[in-house]
Amino acid sequence: MELCVALDLSSAKENLALAKSLQDYNLWVKVGFRTYIRDGKSFIEALKQINPKFKIFLDLKLYDIPNTMADAAEEMAKLDIDMFNIHASAGTIAMKAVMERLASYEKRPLVLAVTALTSFDEKNFQRVYGESIEVKAQQFAKMSYENGLDGVVCSVFESRGIKVITSQDFLTLCPGIRPFGEDAADQQRVATLEFAKQESVNYAVVGRPIYKDKYPQQKVKNILKAITTS
Ligand code: C5P
Repeated sequence: MELCVALDLSSAKENLALAKSLQDYNLWVKVGFRTYIRDGKSFIEALKQINPKFKIFLDLKLYDIPNTMADAAEEMAKLDIDMFNIHASAGTIAMKAVMERLASYEKRPLVLAVTALTSFDEKNFQRVYGESIEVKAQQFAKMSYENGLDGVVCSVFESRGIKVITSQDFLTLCPGIRPFGEDAADQQRVATLEFAKQESVNYAVVGRPIYKDKYPQQKVKNILKAITTS
């Protein structure tokens, strides 16, 4: 399992200071809406300058008509990033269009599909999707696998089941991780690091429990230690 630190702070300055404090670790860092809308491509370049080995996950959750998504995917592939994501509910035609467009790139970023946002509880998810989270997440994962995506974004609770119906190599990236049982805030389906490890999660996304901690660097150190010791 690898750690992916969400850089969700309120300014580029704060995010880069956090990244700098973590420069000795070969981590994944997640750049989301807030940061990308505000700081754009130059923020990604700044991260790579801090540590060229930082792996970058651009979390923009694409959702549009297939051609627009394929165009956006191509622009993603031109950035120096290692992973991006789309919404699985955009459907199979969109998935195919995205993967076909990326096929000509020798080194393309990993592509994941969002199944169910971890902020959904069962009742509100049912209202939107008309299915339980478990059933829908599995359907979305199967669809993503069959259309050549590299993995899915899901909660820790769906990770293992998704690998059973797709492949053990199909990647799961899970937000809503509260490494040592910290405050869930707006997340509904949270899990500890220990549980994420048990459920074969590939990437554990952690935001607030790190950047709201008094000592983020020490927190990351503790998380990495917990990941590597069984
Ligand atoms: O602060 P916290 O650890 O809850 O941050 C989780 C991060 O993961 C946020 O950046 C959020 O946008 C993102 N995310 C999520 N649920 C998803 C996909 C992404 O929480 N399904």
